[in-house]
Amino acid sequence: MNDELMNVRPMIEDDFAEAVIIMMHAFRGKMVMLKSWSDKKIIDLLFYLPTFDKNNLDGNYVFTYEEKVVGILNLKWDEQQKIKKPPKFNIFGAIKRFGIFKLLFTILSLTILETKVTKDEMLVDYIAIHPDFRGKGIGSKLLDFGENQARKNKEITKYSLMVIGQNIRAIKLYEKLGFNIVKTTKLFFLRIFSGIKVYHYMVKDLHK
Ligand SMILES: CC(C)(COP(=O)(O)OP(=O)(O)OC[C@H]1O[C@@H](n2cnc3c(N)ncnc32)[C@H](O)[C@@H]1OP(=O)(O)O)[C@@H](O)C(=O)NCCC(=O)NCCS
Repeated sequence: MNDELMNVRPMIEDDFAEAVIIMMHAFRGKMVMLKSWSDKKIIDLLFYLPTFDKNNLDGNYVFTYEEKVVGILNLKWDEQQKIKKPPKFNIFGAIKRFGIFKLLFTILSLTILETKVTKDEMLVDYIAIHPDFRGKGIGSKLLDFGENQARKNKEITKYSLMVIGQNIRAIKLYEKLGFNIVKTTKLFFLRIFSGIKVYHYMVKDLHK
């Protein structure tokens, strides 16, 4: 890949259609319950949730190659969370469209994986690369970008992320980049529906 054709920039509303496809691929592999769903239905669900919210784009970045969005990164930190506007969510429309059972367990799984950030922390809320562009160094570049953003804020000393136990390749990558597992949480009831058995909280100490 030619470095000159790569760029990382803040996400804009025009990126949503490309970004949601990348998210769909990342999501599909993780939620067993949604395996039978078509790509289109998962994309619909992600729009409904809403995964990308034009009123809360602070911390959302895209990696572009030849101006096409090939990777997405969302960073979360304390100050940003304080000024976050509540997302608009049409719960009745969503139940009608996706069924209460699957919707409930998707939201529950996402809520469990949702972490509160502390004042000294920059959290990678999500990172995903288009399947055709994985293994080419883009994920590492985006994580470096996020780390640089964290280092700009003097109060932040921890760069962190959550990753599910099954995502062995991603865990290996994060360890290579300096993250360590500091906490592992086991899921019991929810694992039947989500397929997620454990998830790890990984931290990179920015003092080092
Ligand atoms: C995990 C992910 C973000 C890594 O991005 P990437 O651009 O593929 O990563 P890089 O090219 O910088 O690094 C490649 C390393 O990642 C690992 N990796 C993890 N998942 C991979 C995948 N699906 N395909 C290729 N490599 C992957 C490889 O083992 C590789 O290690 P190596 O260099 O020692 O061989 C990306 O693979 C992805 O989007 N996966 C699906 C979504 C996801 O799991 N997101 C993370 C949730 S915490």
